[in-house]
Amino acid sequence: MEAKIISTGSYLPSTRVPNQQLETLMDTNDEWIKSRTGIEARHLSETENTSVLCGKAAIKMLDKANVSALEVDLIIVATMTPDYQTPSTACLVQEYIGARQVMAFDINAACSGFVYALSIAEKMVQSGNFRYALVLGGEVMSKVIDWEDRSTAVLFGDGAGGVLLKGVNEKKSFLAEDIHADGSRGLSLTARHLTTQDPFSKTTDEIQQSDYLKMDGRAIFDFSIRNVPASIRQLAEIGETQLAEVDYYLLHQANYRIVEAIAKKLKLPMSKFKTNMQRYGNTSAASIPILLDEVVSAGELKLGSGQKIVLTGFGGGLTWASILIEL
Ligand code: ACO
Repeated sequence: MEAKIISTGSYLPSTRVPNQQLETLMDTNDEWIKSRTGIEARHLSETENTSVLCGKAAIKMLDKANVSALEVDLIIVATMTPDYQTPSTACLVQEYIGARQVMAFDINAACSGFVYALSIAEKMVQSGNFRYALVLGGEVMSKVIDWEDRSTAVLFGDGAGGVLLKGVNEKKSFLAEDIHADGSRGLSLTARHLTTQDPFSKTTDEIQQSDYLKMDGRAIFDFSIRNVPASIRQLAEIGETQLAEVDYYLLHQANYRIVEAIAKKLKLPMSKFKTNMQRYGNTSAASIPILLDEVVSAGELKLGSGQKIVLTGFGGGLTWASILIEL
């Protein structure tokens, strides 16, 4: 049994916040944000939490594939901004879409989360035990943003996207993967540190950190442009595919300059790299499936066409993950 992507879907909350609107909240400006990141606007969720964004994206992709929620056998949600620590976002999505009591769980690999989840789901579908698998990436990043910290607040947005996998008796679609983590650099991007709280002790653990997302922007930038091109080269080698043979590279949408630097290092034209951070900012685990859904909806990628794509996530953990797929 092999896993194949048979549908894509995405959902953005309706409130669009252009850079100019952030100028009213903090000392920043449209020109700085655009020139450093490429971002022009983001969508922020007023009332819909992560599970609702994911649920709405899931319903869209099921409708497109004409598959009932009752046929879904597995739900995986990648998120670093769940509604609760428990229940998992995936359990809430299961209820929201009206799926059966099937296996549902979250994974957290920050901006690499969707690619991690896709890798896990592919193996589970391959086992023959799960026919239809929903793989979602969803975030309400605005929950963990310090809206007074201009160095992070301008970068992120909310949204969700995903794919529906089906187990089929066809040739392999997931050609290769290259997936890593480096916990030694984990503290260069953190959010919501939960401290110890022994009721018999007067102290908590030594690491005192903010509830909000904190990051060393330079370190993350350098990590991205060093590790990602090496990972993509490795992926192409494992998948026995020339870099130029890949139709599109859909990278995590953190920053236009990062995508440009990666393209340059790989000696590939920017026309092979799709971007949408201009409109949505960095939506962490949601960025790749939202982009994939847009490119499929635009007709530039066709499911079942044999076109080749590379999906690459990179970010908190630190983590980085690439998958080469023949659609
Ligand atoms: N508006 C105006 N000025 C700002 C803003 C802002 N929003 N933010 C910072 N500045 C100022 C700084 O205070 C600094 O001023 P100073 O020189 O007077 O001290 C100046 O701009 C330059 O700041 P730097 O942080 O050095 O700017 P840099 O060129 O490194 O760009 C950025 C910052 C865009 C965050 C960059 O480091 C980056 O893209 N890093 C990648 C991080 C990232 O994308 N993380 C997302 C999460 S992880 C992931 O998804 C991979």
